[in-house]
Formats: sequence, C-alpha cells, structure tokens
Amino acid sequence: MSVNDLAIVILAAGKGTRLKSSQAKVLHRAGGRALVEHVVRACAPLKARKVVLVVGHQAEQVSAVAEPFGAESVLQQPQRGTGHAMQVARRALGSAKIAVVLPGDAPLIRTETLRAMLAAHRSGNAAATVLSAVVSDPSGYGRVLRKSETAVQAIVEESQLTGEQRELNEINSSIYCFTLEKLWPALARVTPNNKHRELYLTDALGELAAANETVLAHVATDPREALGCNTRADLAEVDRIFREWKRSSLMNDGVSMQLPETILIDPEVTAGEDTVLEPGVQLLGKTKMGERCIIRTGSVLSDAVLGDDVVVEPHCVVVQSRLDDGVVVGPFARLRPGTHLKDGARVGNFVETKKAVVGEGAKVPHLTYLGDAHVGPKSNIGAGTITCNYDGAGKHPTTIGKGVFIGSNTTLIAPVRIGDGAYVAAGSAITESVPPDALGIARGRQVNKPRWASRKRRELAAGGKSAPRRRKAKPRSRKKAKRR
Ligand code: UD1
Ligand code: CA
Repeated sequence: MSVNDLAIVILAAGKGTRLKSSQAKVLHRAGGRALVEHVVRACAPLKARKVVLVVGHQAEQVSAVAEPFGAESVLQQPQRGTGHAMQVARRALGSAKIAVVLPGDAPLIRTETLRAMLAAHRSGNAAATVLSAVVSDPSGYGRVLRKSETAVQAIVEESQLTGEQRELNEINSSIYCFTLEKLWPALARVTPNNKHRELYLTDALGELAAANETVLAHVATDPREALGCNTRADLAEVDRIFREWKRSSLMNDGVSMQLPETILIDPEVTAGEDTVLEPGVQLLGKTKMGERCIIRTGSVLSDAVLGDDVVVEPHCVVVQSRLDDGVVVGPFARLRPGTHLKDGARVGNFVETKKAVVGEGAKVPHLTYLGDAHVGPKSNIGAGTITCNYDGAGKHPTTIGKGVFIGSNTTLIAPVRIGDGAYVAAGSAITESVPPDALGIARGRQVNKPRWASRKRRELAAGGKSAPRRRKAKPRSRKKAKRR
C-alpha cells in the first residue's frame, strides 16, 4: 500500500470541561503553541492525502490553527463522543484506506512514533492498532486489555474498570491506526453504553477484537508521548516537557544555560554557539540570536533579532527589535517594537525606545525615552532626554545626526532635527531644529540671590515669618541680567 491511502483524523471538538475554561481545550497552549498545532505539526511529515480536523467548540478558532497546515475541518455538533466524532469525519476521508487518528489534546506525540505505529499496523495486517504506553500512574486513562501477548481484547475506560483491571498500567493514548473498511462496521455496532451516553471510539476496538479481527497495541518507547491534557496540571506538565526538549536541543547546538530549568524558550527560537543564558531568561516568538551573546537574568526577548556578541544586562524587555553586533543594553531597558540598535550601540538603564534607530557606536546610557527617533552614529544622548513624539493627535519624528551631543534632561519636541556635530545644552526644551555644529540652548536663565539663605535662617531662628521678605522688583535685577 502506498502512502497515498493514508488519511489523518484529529479529534478536536471537545470543550475540555476539566480545564474549567471558556476556551476550548485544544486551543490552550503548552510549549509555546496551541495543543492542536503540536498535533498537526507532528502529522505533517506523514504526507497523508488528507488531514481532517473534527471541530465543535470554538470551531473557527480551532480550524484557524490547523488550516495553514492544510487540514480540512468538519463540524461535530453536538459532540456525542470520540466514536461519533469519527463517524462525522467519514465523508471527508474519501477513498483513504488507512487512518491515523489522534486526539487534539496529546501534543507530545512525535512523527517517528506515528511512523513506527503505522509500520506495525501495515506489517501486522491489523484492523486496528492502538498506541499504548506503560506508565506508573494510569489513572484517568482507558486501559489496554490484552487477549494475548500481541493482541488486544478491548479498551476499558477508567469509569468502567473492574477492581482487578484497575491494576493494569498499559494505557490507551487515544492515538490509533485503523483500516477503515474494518472500522466502519465495528463502529456501527457501538452503543452509547456509558454514563455520558457517548459513543466511544475505544469500544470499536473491542468490537473488532470480538469479531476476530486483528487489533494490535504498539507501545510508545517514551510514555510521555501519550500524555493527554485534561487538567491545568496536565498542561503544566506538558509545557515543562516541551521546554526541556527545546533547551536540550539548544544546548546540543552549543548554547550555555545556567539553571536551565528556570529558562523558558519558545519552539522557533534559535541561538548561535557560545551564547550564554542566565537564570530566569525568557526567549519568545521568533527570537534569533547570533554567537557569543549573553542574556542576563530576568530578561525577556520576544521576536528579537540579535547579531553576534550582544549583551543584554539583567531585567530587560526586548520586543520586535533588532540588535546588531556588539550592542549592549540594560540593565532595566525596555526596547519596544521597531527598535534597531546598530553595531556597538549602547542603551543603558531605564531607557525606553519605540520605532527608534540608534546608530553605530551611539550611546543612550540612562533614563531616556526615544520614540519615532533616529540617532546617528557616535552620538551621545544625555540622561533624562525625552523625545516628545506625541502631540495628543499624531506621532512626529525626531532626527538626530551623527556625533551629536544631547545634554541631560533635554526635551526634543517633535518634529525636530538636530544636525551633525551639534550640541544641545542640558535642560533644554528644543522646539526648533538645531543646525549642524551649532549649540542649541533653550531654557530659563539662572538667577542667584546673594545671602538669601542666611537671611532665611536668621528669620527662622527669630521665630519670624516662614519665608524671607520679598524685595520689590528693582532695576537692580535688570542690571544683573545684563551682566550675564
Ligand atoms: C480518551 C480515551 C481514553 C484515553 C484518553 C487518552 C475515549 C472514550 N477515551 O479519554 O481511553 O486513555 O483519551 O488521552 O475515547 N472529542 C471530540 N468529540 C467528542 C468527544 C471528544 O472531538 O465528541 C475530542 C476531544 O476534543 C479530545 C479527544 O477527542 O481532543 C479526546 O477526548 P477526551 O474527552 O479528552 O477523552 P478522554 O476522556 O481523555
Ligand atoms: Ca483527553
């Protein structure tokens, strides 16, 4: 039989009552993806002629996750059990002869395991093959009842176990291979003979065995692949396993991690050799990092692209930003979407950026907001510099040339341009552009009042007025102003 006789059915219509959630179970996330996406991805390399997804609760959202992988959805409404779900899928299976059936809530399944099960099914000429797992705690799962060493007699749901059967520790993963022409008649004989009044797909295996058809169990080499997510605790456990797999794979690629169990990495993240991750780091989305980067404790990178030798000091948040070679950021920096720090740029503590380009070797060392801003190479942005990019209606750009010096506590009221090589005096509120090589200064002039403080102290000591007596404004002050 060729690969082309194969269809895949993913059962994903259930609500997942035990999660106590308004969201359908298979949309819950673990290991950085919706449960059902993991299942669809594991099936994709099998290159089946059809992938059918049975949807019900939040059908549209569930379909949307699987459609990019070529899955076709069929609606099961209402949900009358896993056997009923299979009947609903029947028409969509067309002329496929063999179906691999999986629940949407068992995300740890790997392609190799599906291949091995399929091979066992084909070579054993079976009507049905169930992927089973031997576990220490089988509670909550259907148990595999064997009739001989190789053949299965039935699958008994937890609620229907006899005292003796409770000891069985081979569980049903709910992942199967069916020869469809054998399945349909057996499924037609199944009745909703259980407390939920549902049609159980598991009962079809018992029917097949009773009709002397071959029903096999293929034992998963890693029992974790059979883990189904029925509860929040299951979700947490599955997430933990995915994260562990991802960390191992990055470590195999030459990435160092301190206290790896505290580091959370999404599946699509990549990192170059000799990159070091400190405890409590999160690397999310499509974050990509070059070689020899150091991400220090508590930093969160989401869809960030880092070159080589980038240092992210502790407790930074970097989202949809690009950090070129040799950039240093943080501690406590927040880089928002559209930030691009060019080679060797430095962004220090308590700096926020958004849609900001910081040129090669430029420095923004502390306490600054750069929004809709462009900073040229080798410029220095003093502490407390703020680009006032928003006027209550629209956003405006600030353009700072190369080799510019912006004094501390400057507000740059956009739109505004600072030419190459210019200086801006500390404390300025800049509303007009500063030409290249000029000094821009825009602030109130300083007035010193001689002996004001000592007079004040004398008055206080005499129990007098709380403030020094005000002199009338006299020409004196004007004269003083002239002296400056
Ligand atoms: C099922 C198996 C059990 C097995 C366990 C493994 C049955 C009766 N029991 O139990 O033997 O050990 O999986 O995890 O099959 N679904 C539908 N339509 C329905 C009902 C369910 O599409 O009408 C989907 C659910 O969305 C879910 C999957 O089928 O993805 C399994 O359903 P679930 O309720 O989780 O079955 P379990 O009780 O875990
Ligand atoms: Ca389940």
